[in-house]
Amino acid sequence: MRQLRSSLAFLAAFTGGAVGRAAGQEQGSISTAEYEGWRQYSVQCARCHGQDALPNPVAANLLVSMAPGGPTAEKETFTKVVMEGRPDRGMPPFKDVMTPEQVDAVYAYLKGRAENRIPVGRPQPPG
Ligand code: HEC
Repeated sequence: MRQLRSSLAFLAAFTGGAVGRAAGQEQGSISTAEYEGWRQYSVQCARCHGQDALPNPVAANLLVSMAPGGPTAEKETFTKVVMEGRPDRGMPPFKDVMTPEQVDAVYAYLKGRAENRIPVGRPQPPG
């Protein structure tokens, strides 16, 4: 069952990503929340989860976790993991470090990355 679920998640990520990429290229823009999320991610998360959420051997691959159907694709699940952490498994809690708005912004940024709407690299500031 777990196997099937992750295959479906991969399929969803793959097909969703192709559509998202085309849309992103047309618009080429990023929201204020996504931009703020990129800043927060770079400061708080990149050292373990990789610059621009690119996979690395240290921590969970967030491009997979946040893709449609992934284990933390839903905002509620994501927020709980980030606020409370999984200290026994190396994921620190951020509830004393970040505001709920900042965590929401990181969610927006990571969803954009996982759905291929936001490319690798420093995004253009909005406006
Ligand atoms: C000190 C290293 C470290 C930092 C910093 C860190 N993480 Fe993690 N994170 C981990 C590890 C290790 C795991 C895997 C835990 C596990 O096995 O369940 C993880 C797991 C996660 C998961 C769950 C993924 C899944 O598939 O279940 C999410 C979501 C996450 N991190 C988001 C973040 C965000 C957002 C930040 C920044 C605000 C962050 N992490 C900062 C180490 C880190």
